[in-house]
Formats: sequence, C-alpha cells, structure tokens
Amino acid sequence: GKYRVVSTKSMPGTRWIYLLIEQDCRVEICTEKKTILSVEDIIALIGHKCDGVIGQLTEDWGETLFAALSRAGGTAFSNMAVGYNNVDVNAANKYGVAVGNTPGVLTETTAELAASLSLTAARRIVEADEFMRAGLYDGWLPHLFVGNLLKGQTVGVIGAGRIGSAYARMMVEGFKMNLIYYDLYQATRLEKFVTAYGEFLKARGEQPVYWKRASTMDEVLREADVISLHPILDKTTYHLINKERLATMKKEAILVNCSRGPVVDEVALVEHLKQNPMFRVGLDVFEDEPFMKPGLAEMKNAVIVPHIASASKWTREGMAKLAALNVLGKIKGYPIWGDPNRVEPFLNENAPPPA
Ligand code: GLV
Ligand code: GLV
Repeated sequence: GKYRVVSTKSMPGTRWIYLLIEQDCRVEICTEKKTILSVEDIIALIGHKCDGVIGQLTEDWGETLFAALSRAGGTAFSNMAVGYNNVDVNAANKYGVAVGNTPGVLTETTAELAASLSLTAARRIVEADEFMRAGLYDGWLPHLFVGNLLKGQTVGVIGAGRIGSAYARMMVEGFKMNLIYYDLYQATRLEKFVTAYGEFLKARGEQPVYWKRASTMDEVLREADVISLHPILDKTTYHLINKERLATMKKEAILVNCSRGPVVDEVALVEHLKQNPMFRVGLDVFEDEPFMKPGLAEMKNAVIVPHIASASKWTREGMAKLAALNVLGKIKGYPIWGDPNRVEPFLNENAPPPA
C-alpha cells in the first residue's frame, strides 16, 4: 500500500507535495485551525498507521510523540526548521525514528533579516515610521532621529556557523564594518573572505577592514558596536546573554537575535533597555513565544518581529521540499538519507564529525 506521510501544517509551495505523491505517499496535511498543536493533537494526527511526519518548531517532539510515531510504524520525522531544540533526538533514536532538519536553504534569508534588524535599529526606522504616521513631523531638524553610522564600526558575531558567517559577510562587505567573532570552532571560510575583502579595499586605496576571532565571548560583548547572536539553543547557550553580560556591552550597542529566544534572558533585557535608552535591540525570537516579557512591547529602543527570519518565498518552499525529502529519503531508504540522524549538532563546517 501507500506510505502515509503527515504534515502538521500546510507548507508553502506544491513541489514538496508532488514529490511525495510521485513516490507513492498519501500526504495528509493537518487542517486544525489553531496555530500551535499540542502533543495530544499530534498523537491523533499520527493515528494507527503513519510512516513519517513533517513537523514544526512550535511542537514538542519528545518521548511521547516518538513513541506514538513508532507504534504507528513510523521511522522518519523532519522538522521544517534548521533549529531542532524542540526535538529530543535521543528519544527519537530510542524509538528508531530518524530526524531531519532543513539547513542551507535558509542561511541567506535569515542572515538578511539579521542585517535588516541591525540597520533598522541603527537608524531608528520603526520609531521614525511611527512618528510620521502619527503626524508628528513638522519639519527637518538637525537632531531628529539621529542614529549610528555602521561604516568603520565593529560587528560582533556570536556563533559563526552558516547563518552567522553569512551575516558577518553582509555587514563587512555591505557596510565596511570590522569583524570580531566568537565560536567554539574556527570559521575558516569567513576569515578568508574578510581577509581578501580587506586586501581588496587596501588595493583600492580605501581603509581596509579588520577581523579577529575572540578567545572569549565577553571580548565580543565589550568591543562590538553591533552584536548578532547565531548559536544553537541548548543547555550551554540558555541565557547566554544575561544581566551581567548586558552590563559589559557598550551603552550604545545594538543587539540582534534571530537564533532562539531563550539564548537571551528577556526579563534582564527589558530592564537593560529601560536603564539604557541608547542601547537598541532587534528581536526576531522571544523566550516564551508567542508571548513577550512584560514591558518589551513598550520599549522604543526595541525592534520586534514575529520569528520571520526564514520567511522568504524561495526559502520557505525550499524548507518544505527539504523536509519532505528527509522523510521520503528515510522511508524509501535512499542512501544519503540513510543515517539514523541527519541533524547537524555543530556550529560550522570545521566542526569534527559527530561521534
Ligand atoms: C527557524 O527558526 C528555524 O530554525 O529554521
Ligand atoms: C539633509 O537632508 C541634507 O541635505 O544634509
């Protein structure tokens, strides 16, 4: 008979659906109206026979769901996301379910949002837009919405994997910023790029850009003018940015987070924004989505968007296709998807291979 594949959400594009159908799958897309499905909702969706599931980052894929999927004969699960902190990979292993994620296709799109938030915060675009719409503009003034010039300032990247490196490249090449980055692993390709770009500028008689790999994260926090967070979320990065670390940052620094909300202690951040009106933040993710910590929505020095970093048409269709391929590849036993887990727990390409 046909394989039964369930997608917990309708996903952009149709290529992913045809891909599955052409390979003898019956595709079922959940029609439930509520945004976030509970574990019970998903158990009902899995039912008695299910070969694979395409799920979302809002869902809690732990012991209970993998047990249910395994009981239904399922062997494959893919998150439609690169991050997989919502997935208990050990539990999946225990129940013989392979796990996939969707790296690569969202790298540039996500980095572009981080760059957008950096610029939006630097130039106070949201505040200025609100000012215009409120009818408050009554003439040009020398001090109206004065922000920061990025050129010649230092961009700090914490977590120089695919996305962090793409963001760094954009800020260096686009705005001629100097770079300081922190990662457990050396970002060789990024370093080569920035070095070559610095040489290029020098050859043209322009001021070159400089880069360094920081030996501690605190060095980045102390020295950078714009800091963007790109680590994975796990026990070691929970509340990486806390009250103490915020206090070490420059008073007029810009902090951007397009990774995962819990990387930042959001209560401490709100307090820091209140105490430091010149400190600005651009946030795509929140500690307790879809909620924000009290006070954040009132802060003029915060730009806040609803977890849309990967939201370009090309990328979202690519993520859907990749998620479908992950599930299909496992079900059909295609060799490149034959590994028990295709998820990539390391920050960049120089990381040692998983044990
Ligand atoms: C989105 O947050 C993702 O991890 O892909
Ligand atoms: C500003 O609009 C200027 O012309 O300097």
